[in-house]
Amino acid sequence: MLAADILVICTPVWNFNIPSALKAWLDHIIRSGITFRYGTDGPVGLVQNKKAYIALASGGVLSEEPYTAFDFAVPYLKAVLAFIGLTDVSVVRVEGTAIPGLQETALENAISSIYIG
Ligand SMILES: Cc1cc2nc3c(=O)[nH]c(=O)nc-3n(C[C@H](O)[C@H](O)[C@H](O)COP(=O)(O)O)c2cc1C
Repeated sequence: MLAADILVICTPVWNFNIPSALKAWLDHIIRSGITFRYGTDGPVGLVQNKKAYIALASGGVLSEEPYTAFDFAVPYLKAVLAFIGLTDVSVVRVEGTAIPGLQETALENAISSIYIG
């Protein structure tokens, strides 16, 4: 991870958060003295100058009301990545994969939301 220029996390939403395997990986890489350190002004992220992409699939639509209160995965991932210094994070959501009427276009809509500038 430290050797990479770009981090890509592809994950489903499971029970409103990330799967335990991804959580386990984060627990292994978020280590004091390696990816962050504590300075006199608090924690300092040591993973600098990298770009991160999060591609997230969910059966429901968590980015819109009334389900935004259940959207733990993206805020959690952004928080822990920022903690280790990864602040340049783009998120692509494939939402509604379990909802008839949305699932048919979920992937297409996600791809359309990607801005290539
Ligand atoms: C164990 C499990 C838990 C899930 N929990 C949620 C959930 O809390 N919210 C949600 O919107 N979708 C949930 N889903 C649906 C998945 O997020 C959805 O199927 C998604 O498309 C999975 O990604 P995949 O198609 O790449 O497997 C769950 C699916 C499984 C298998």
